[in-house]
Amino acid sequence: MNNVIEVEHLKKTYGSFTAVDDVSFHVEEGEVFGLLGPNGAGKTTSIECIQALRHSFTGDVSVLGLDPRKDARELRKYIGSQLQESALPNRMKVWEALDLFASFAPNALDWELLLKQWGLAEKRNSSFGGLSGGQQQRLFIALALVNDPKIVFLDEMTQGLDPAARRVAWDLVRAVRDKGKTVVMVTHFMDEAENLCDRLAIVNKGRIVATDSPQGLINSYATQIKVLFSTDEPDLSYLEQIPSVNSVNRYGSHVEILGTGPILPLVAAALVENGITPSDLRVDQPTLEDVFLILTRDVEPAEINQ
Ligand SMILES: Nc1ncnc2c1ncn2[C@@H]1O[C@H](COP(=O)(O)OP(=O)(O)OP(=O)(O)O)[C@@H](O)[C@H]1O
Ligand SMILES: [Mg+2]
Repeated sequence: MNNVIEVEHLKKTYGSFTAVDDVSFHVEEGEVFGLLGPNGAGKTTSIECIQALRHSFTGDVSVLGLDPRKDARELRKYIGSQLQESALPNRMKVWEALDLFASFAPNALDWELLLKQWGLAEKRNSSFGGLSGGQQQRLFIALALVNDPKIVFLDEMTQGLDPAARRVAWDLVRAVRDKGKTVVMVTHFMDEAENLCDRLAIVNKGRIVATDSPQGLINSYATQIKVLFSTDEPDLSYLEQIPSVNSVNRYGSHVEILGTGPILPLVAAALVENGITPSDLRVDQPTLEDVFLILTRDVEPAEINQ
């Protein structure tokens, strides 16, 4: 595999505050790589350094063999950026923005097609200020793609998009990837990360705490199975005696049991033995959200697994 991005010991400070602290990762050509982490974790700062939008950082960063600090102008030809905070002049028309961005690019795509793909054809002559938040967001994604980039950076691409538009955006990102492009995306949506990203880095407090495929992360970190059911029976202490059960939590009549291994038959047998036959007994498999919560809590993962 060819690494199109290599980041070694990236560190970025704002005054005395360290926003990105010794971050290292690589991105392979043709993959969708995601950065997932809580607010303020340093995701935007990290990808801004990589995109040559911030220059005062330490560490080694190579993007398509270029150094963003030295080769910013050259690099811009090959990357597309949708920024978390963007703005255009309110009076600029949608078509003017695309035409302007295309005019900077030697291999610009047909922006009329991008307009259609991103559901903006009817808004061609609308001014930027007259677009809804979601339409503005779609325009920024289209603008990030107009120079036919080798790598496209998407920072919270689907923020503000309605559910249908999110699905369309996912399909379009997959289409971009299928054309051999590399996508680096920041997202807060677990379903988006799970559906779109080939690999993910979980970022917390300026550091990468884990990198793997979504399923790999789930297998490594979210090892607890959840068994759920409802009952009004007050005493369920016997469930805590089952060896592979770690905790029994009650939320009103809802009961949530956390454990490792195949606890469902053991829980079911113990309930039947004690005269309870819950009709809604079910198992929830661990999800990426569980991984996220485990890895971004204020305690070390090792402490949680104990
Ligand atoms: N220009 C700046 N000056 C000072 N501090 C900054 C600046 N930009 C970001 N920070 C701080 O750096 C930290 C990381 O910010 P960053 O925007 O990278 O986080 P993020 O992971 O993208 O968060 P979010 O999910 O909220 O977008 C935050 O604590 C933020 O307050
Ligand atoms: Mg951000």
